[in-house]
Amino acid sequence: MSRPLRLGVNIDHVATIRNARGGDHPDPVRAAEIVAACGGDGITAHLREDRRHIRDEDLARIQAATSLPLNLEMAATEEMLAIALRHMPHAACIVPERREERTTEGGLDAAGQHNRLYPLVQRLGEAGIRVSLFIAPEERQIEAALRLGAPVVELHTGEYAHAAGDAAEAERARIAAMAALAAREGIEPHAGHGLTYDNVGPIAAIAELAELNIGHYLIGEAIFCGLEASVLRMRQLMDEARA
Ligand code: PXP
Repeated sequence: MSRPLRLGVNIDHVATIRNARGGDHPDPVRAAEIVAACGGDGITAHLREDRRHIRDEDLARIQAATSLPLNLEMAATEEMLAIALRHMPHAACIVPERREERTTEGGLDAAGQHNRLYPLVQRLGEAGIRVSLFIAPEERQIEAALRLGAPVVELHTGEYAHAAGDAAEAERARIAAMAALAAREGIEPHAGHGLTYDNVGPIAAIAELAELNIGHYLIGEAIFCGLEASVLRMRQLMDEARA
């Protein structure tokens, strides 16, 4: 049986546009309020080391403005751990981060970095923050998440989003198999990256997935039709795929 599929809206790129001019507009807090008002299930924000979009002070403002759960995407560093413990988001999604990348390009190597990640996952978990690991849909990464005691994995859909035809179907099947494996192991599977109106359906149809996190496309569409309309359309496509 399918579980409900939550939509977490990543509002980073509202801040990207704000920062292009160095002022206060457009304010990602206003985006968070609109997402809350139109039925989004959560707000996702990535505080990057270089603060290219979301900034430290945005986190508290977003938390004060809405009661939606905040999913903080963060690199596995002491600096980000301290910020997470200070702000106490509902969830922390640990992502790999390279300063020169345009976006989060690959999954976290949970399998290869066990010793580095273990204390971080423990400290976040002990504080009551739900830890998620942003990983490639690979068995060895799910097994590593299990050894690390992470309650959630977010499966990277970037390869799926960039593929076409048979390659996209093969990648979708891999994501579905890894979502099923995670669920069997007691880990809640989420997915995200590169999802659009055109490609969300086959991912939303994967019954074990509990949450999709979607950002760039929704904010891009919002330029043309408004944020409420873009979130509602994505929600509708997700619901149709589940039905
Ligand atoms: N999930 C994670 C872990 C991410 O790092 C990102 C991008 O910041 C997303 C989801 C959203 O990806 P997109 O902006 O391509 O929808």
